[in-house]
Amino acid sequence: MENQNGYELLKERAKSLAVMLTLEEKIGMIHGAHLFSTQGVERLGIPPLVMSDGPMGVRQEFEPDHWKAVGGSADYATYLPCNSALAATWNRDLASATGSVLGAEARGRGKDIILAPGINIKRSPLCGRNFEYFSEDPYLTGELAVCFIQGIQQWDVAACVKHFAVNNQETQRLWTEVEIDEAALREIYLPAFYECLTRGKSLSVMGAYNKLYGEHCCQSQYLLNDLLRKEWSYEGVVVSDWGGVHDTKLAAMSELDIEMSVTDNFDEYYMASPLKKAVEEGSIPECRIDEKVTRILALMMQLHMIGGREKTERKSGAYNVPEHRQTALETARESIVLLKNERKILPLDEKRPQKILLVGENAQRFHSNGGGSAEMKALYEISPLMGIKMLLGGNVKVDFIQGYKSTAKEPEDGVNWQEKSLEDGGGHGRDNQKESQSLAQERAELRREAVALAKAYETVIYVGGLNHDYDSEGLDRSDMTLPYEQDLLIQALLEVKPDMVVVLIGGSPVEMGAWIDKAPAVLWSYYAGMEGGTALAEVLFGRVNPSGKLPETFYKSHKDCSAHLVGEFAGEKTVSYKEGIFVGYRFNETFGVKPEFCFGHGLSYTCFEYKEAVYEASESGSYITCTITNTGERAGAELVQVYRMVRGQDILPMPEEVSELQNMRPSKELAGFGKIYLNPGETGQIKIAVKGKVDTSVLGVGSSVEQICIVVDKES
Ligand code: BGC
Repeated sequence: MENQNGYELLKERAKSLAVMLTLEEKIGMIHGAHLFSTQGVERLGIPPLVMSDGPMGVRQEFEPDHWKAVGGSADYATYLPCNSALAATWNRDLASATGSVLGAEARGRGKDIILAPGINIKRSPLCGRNFEYFSEDPYLTGELAVCFIQGIQQWDVAACVKHFAVNNQETQRLWTEVEIDEAALREIYLPAFYECLTRGKSLSVMGAYNKLYGEHCCQSQYLLNDLLRKEWSYEGVVVSDWGGVHDTKLAAMSELDIEMSVTDNFDEYYMASPLKKAVEEGSIPECRIDEKVTRILALMMQLHMIGGREKTERKSGAYNVPEHRQTALETARESIVLLKNERKILPLDEKRPQKILLVGENAQRFHSNGGGSAEMKALYEISPLMGIKMLLGGNVKVDFIQGYKSTAKEPEDGVNWQEKSLEDGGGHGRDNQKESQSLAQERAELRREAVALAKAYETVIYVGGLNHDYDSEGLDRSDMTLPYEQDLLIQALLEVKPDMVVVLIGGSPVEMGAWIDKAPAVLWSYYAGMEGGTALAEVLFGRVNPSGKLPETFYKSHKDCSAHLVGEFAGEKTVSYKEGIFVGYRFNETFGVKPEFCFGHGLSYTCFEYKEAVYEASESGSYITCTITNTGERAGAELVQVYRMVRGQDILPMPEEVSELQNMRPSKELAGFGKIYLNPGETGQIKIAVKGKVDTSVLGVGSSVEQICIVVDKES
């Protein structure tokens, strides 16, 4: 994309085009004229801006004015691993390859803006949209999202990084006001946006539904005018979330450029007729509209949508091509996290003639078509059962039994929840109690059958977890327990099959306390896209050595998470982020909370030994260089995590006054990471850039299994 001088020129050209437009034409360009597009100006060859969700692939087509799926076969598309899965790879190359697939497919489907990635911080494990987000850590989020955006934008399609900002819960998401001190806002919740908009050069950004400091984010002076434009000098296009605008004057005077919504009264949107009237009456100056239109025209020029050579210069993209499926597979492989592997139960031996039983609905279930606006019409989706059968072939008997029954409804054809998404504050928490009681008897029977059958099999693999009835837009979980009485089922199965492998699929962590001590081998997979089942089978049978690491803490219970323990979650009218900067592992490491599996955890089928970690700092930045040997018997990748750690800071007691947290620093923070691939016996060197300023207070470097720590002085 253009450098600063190039952009200034482009803006001049956009300005001279904008002066040729009538007020009505300009108004048409700054609000939704259909559910996913604005109005073009035909007489000047200005096309509408066409948008689409979302992070896991280009969404199905809807009729322009109704939430009715167009149907037909042309909008099946590549279903990519969700952003949490991508984050679990900790692999920048895969982030950019996955982004590139999304960009190519968006262009291939004729889109101008793809409404992705979602980069909100995972403040609580209960947020229903966590599967669309990367991590609880701002640095990891920013690093991967920047690569993802650069991948998208190679294709003359704009990324739209969302939701700006502090959109960390679904409950009452249209109205909740976030109460947070500015220091925590800037240290935890804004850095990934800053990185995506400045270094990543995301051409657009979507405002959030919620409120911050008394203003709705989509029309916020503080966020959009002061921070985004003035402080960060951001010149891209700001799009509202669908229905996120609430006032004509505030929206017009803010730096929002395009108002979108879910209703079909397009002409009545705040930035449609009401704004035209206000300009005509003189209560809002027309120059405010001109600025918005100029930015939209400049974006169109950057995407080669206008400017005379659009037919020859603009990339055409492609969708459903084999290479895209290959990328989906490669990302899925690296996203799977081996949580536990006692007695080397895994990998299973694919050569040994055996019969295998898969228990659990997720062995068969497709996840692509749920979750809210991230839903996909996947070209195909390989389930775990299919993936295992495909890998083992016809000589091994692979059977399936349901084991538990979910209450998740398959989405009805042609009906979409989004039409009503502005009702009841936009979202709520879930009532688990009601659900489980009604099905208790049926579930007990399913359990009994599965346990009886399992006894007859040499190998039993449990495949359960969550689905998009739980990981969903507009809905927060009420706790982290496994739904559908899966705890009872897993426990009963482990009684008869103590070597059973447990595979959990989901978009956010679940409680495992009821059975984790008894389960020797546990694999975690986020929603891993169309090839998720293939990748899972490859990991189970050792064709792929797992290298995924958790991009978030897996708590024993949500109650241990600082958002719940210290702050509030989920708030209704207001939600107070009293925990400040102590989000996720920053809190756990400082105050001694022991999670089930910590941030960064993930095992391999081989072992690595770290040697000679050296810290070097120069004008250009600081680096850690480390020598690593694969001491095991399998080739594999090791993720090297570098943390900045405060010297001699033992675990601290929680201060009596929560406000004291404001004066404290976390004992450990992620400062760098990189992945190295090594064959058995091979030794390699990795150089990792360390985030932040060159540190003069570094006292030393320590390495342990899995991570390197740069030890700094308490005062630094
Ligand atoms: C979501 C956005 C999405 C938009 C358009 C809203 O409900 O919050 O993330 O891009 O709908 O579908």
